[in-house]
Amino acid sequence: VSRLVLMGGGPHAKVVLETLRAAGLYEVAGVLEPGAAARSLLGAPVLGGDDVLPRLRTEGVTHAIVTVGDNSLRRRLAARAQAAGLELAQAIHPRAAISPTARLAPGVVVMAGAVINAEATVGPLAIVNTGAVVDHDCRLDEAVHVGPGCALAGGVRVGLGAFLGAGVSAIPQVGVGRWAIVGAGAAVVRDIPDLAVAYGAPARVARTRNDIRSEDLAE
Ligand SMILES: CC(C)(COP(=O)(O)OP(=O)(O)OC[C@H]1O[C@@H](n2cnc3c(N)ncnc32)[C@H](O)[C@@H]1OP(=O)(O)O)[C@@H](O)C(=O)NCCC(=O)NCCS
Repeated sequence: VSRLVLMGGGPHAKVVLETLRAAGLYEVAGVLEPGAAARSLLGAPVLGGDDVLPRLRTEGVTHAIVTVGDNSLRRRLAARAQAAGLELAQAIHPRAAISPTARLAPGVVVMAGAVINAEATVGPLAIVNTGAVVDHDCRLDEAVHVGPGCALAGGVRVGLGAFLGAGVSAIPQVGVGRWAIVGAGAAVVRDIPDLAVAYGAPARVARTRNDIRSEDLAE
């Protein structure tokens, strides 16, 4: 069994940790959380900050999973893990239903009760949260987060770093732009532009994000 470290010790990490335990594919060596007050997270030891990654690698930890909900930070932490020679693991709950023709990239997290249907693609570091439905032919790009209970109909595209809050619905074939935020409970019936913050049913753009780092925008 390969040994794995979680990067990030917040609430999202708890759910990923229990997802990993349910799947049973890795031995969890511990959790990295700089300056953490707690010594453990649900019984997994807190090992320090990212600076301990190279030492963990020499101690036989081969895999990392990034357990922060912030889509931009998740990418940066993944790059640090890879620079330290660790591979990105997936965490897929045994009670998620994933089509044999769906494709899931490294670093993907799929929580309990999620459904991913035929020929959907899920990009690196994407999160498909509890009970979300990603129907046939959807395309989730890198570091997307599809929140709990979302329902994405067939062929929906979600761009780099976009975040869909809890219970977002999207009709077939619509697109959500890069780094967009769609508020909880929204109904996406038209394309949402890059960097938009949109909510409501039907979803309307309320403002444009200006908090995205230039490195993230450059890609
Ligand atoms: C959309 C969202 C990002 C907006 O956050 P924000 O920019 O801080 O907005 P505010 O809280 O200042 O609200 C601004 C207005 O939008 C309304 N609003 C906020 N979110 C809304 C939503 N999801 N649907 C409808 N209206 C919403 C507020 O009621 C407020 O209206 P008012 O001006 O008439 O009082 C946030 O409310 C949201 O829905 N986040 C999703 C969180 C989530 O689901 N997380 C899952 C974690 S796993």
